[in-house]
Amino acid sequence: MSRVIPIVADTASPSKQPSPGMTLLEALPPLSLYVHVPWCVRKCPYCDFNSHQAGESVPEDRYLAALAADLEQALPRIWGRQVHTVFIGGGTPSLLSEGAVDRLLAMLRSYLSLWPDAEITLEANPGTAEAGRFLAYAASGVNRISLGIQSFNDKHLAALGRIHDARQARDAIGMAQRAVARVNLDLMFALPGQTASECEEDVRSALAFGTEHLSLYQLTLEPNTVFAKYPPALPDDDAAAQMQDLVEALAGQAGLERYEVSAYARRGARARHNVNYWEFGDYLGIGPGAHGKLSFPDRVERDARVRNPESWMQAAVQRDGSHITDARVLAPSDMPFEFMLNALRLRQGVPSSLYTERTGEPLATLTRALRRAHDRGLFSADPTRLQASEQGWRFLNELQALFL
Ligand SMILES: C[S@@+](CC[C@H](N)C(=O)[O-])C[C@H]1O[C@@H](n2cnc3c(N)ncnc32)[C@H](O)[C@@H]1O
Ligand code: SF4
Repeated sequence: MSRVIPIVADTASPSKQPSPGMTLLEALPPLSLYVHVPWCVRKCPYCDFNSHQAGESVPEDRYLAALAADLEQALPRIWGRQVHTVFIGGGTPSLLSEGAVDRLLAMLRSYLSLWPDAEITLEANPGTAEAGRFLAYAASGVNRISLGIQSFNDKHLAALGRIHDARQARDAIGMAQRAVARVNLDLMFALPGQTASECEEDVRSALAFGTEHLSLYQLTLEPNTVFAKYPPALPDDDAAAQMQDLVEALAGQAGLERYEVSAYARRGARARHNVNYWEFGDYLGIGPGAHGKLSFPDRVERDARVRNPESWMQAAVQRDGSHITDARVLAPSDMPFEFMLNALRLRQGVPSSLYTERTGEPLATLTRALRRAHDRGLFSADPTRLQASEQGWRFLNELQALFL
C-alpha cells in the first residue's frame, strides 16, 4: 500500500465492551475498502510491508477465491453501507494480470454497493508496467494509479534494490497518465549517499510530469529488513530535514500543497481513500495482513487478517473465521490516541466536532492532553479545530504522544 498505511495504535490493554444497546455514534463514517496483494518480483531491502517474493507466478485463482471468501464473511458487518473508495495495495498489485484485476473488480461490484464515482486506486511498480496492462486496468474500473517511482537516479535506484531504472520509471508514468486521469507518484528522499541537489532533481523530475499528487517519504530503516541488518550510510538528520523543507518548497511552487505528513496534492486532488483513514473513517481490509476498522452504533472495532499469504488463503476458504486475528472493540480510553494519531497528520487537522462524531466520546475527554499541548505551544489556538501548531507539526511524535 502506499506508505500511507492506516495508523493503528498498538494498545495491548484489554478493551472494555460498551454496554449492549448503548448508542455512541449518531451516524456511521464513510466506508473504504482496502485489498492487499502480497507479492512482488523481489523484496526491496528497505521494505517492511507484508510483501513476499513471488515464485514462478502469482497464484491468481486461489488468491481471488480466498479474497471472495474473505469478503463474503465480512459482508454482514457492512450490510447496507456504501463503499466510497477502494485501494488495491501491496506488495505489487500490478503483478496481477489484466484478467485477474477485472475479475477482482467485478467481484467487488457484485458484493458491494460502490459509490458511482468511487475512487479506485491500484498500486503499481514501474518494473511491472506494461502499456496494455494499465489501459486494461482502467477499462475494468481503476481510475487512479499510484506508482512507486522512488527516484529518477539510476545510482540510487540500484542502491535501493529496485527492479526498474529511471527510463522505465518515466515510461511507466507516461503509460499511467494515458490510462487514468489521476496518478500518484511515490518518491523517497534522504537515500543512501543522496545530496540535496540530487533530491531536488528527483522532485523536479516528478513535478515535470504535471502530476496532481505526490507522496514523498523520508527513507526509514525499518526493523527486520536487510537495511536494518546492513545499514547504508544515510544523510544525517540535519541534511534530511533540509531535504524535507526543499521538497515542500518545490512542491508548493508547482501548486501542490503538503496536506499530510508525506502527501502533496493540487486542489481537489487529495487521495480520498487516505484522507478517510486520517479522518478516522471506516475501512474494511481484506487479503493477507490487511487491517480493518469498522464502526457500529454502539462500538468501534478493529481487526486484522493472518499475515502469511499461504496461511491466509487456506484459512479464508475454510469460512470459519480463522483468517481473522486481533479482533477487538476499542475502549473509550483508546479513543484519544487512536483518533489524534491519525487526525494530526493532516496539516489542517479536522473540525473539533469530528472527534465525538467518530468516537462517540465527548471532547472533554481530550481536555487534559489539549491543555498540555497548548502549554507547550504544540497545538493550534483555533478552538474549532483539532490541529497541530507550526511547532507541533515539526514535533509531531511528541504531540501525538500527549494523547496516549
Ligand atoms: C507498497 S510500496 C509501493 C508500491 C510498489 N510495491 C513499489 O514499491 O513500487 C509503498 C511505498 O512505501 C514507500 N516505502 C516503503 N518502504 C519505505 C521505507 N522504509 N521508508 C520510506 N518509505 C518507504 C515507498 O515509497 C513505496 O512506494
Ligand atoms: S516492490 Fe514495493 S512492496 Fe514490494 S518489496 Fe519493494 S517497496 Fe516493498
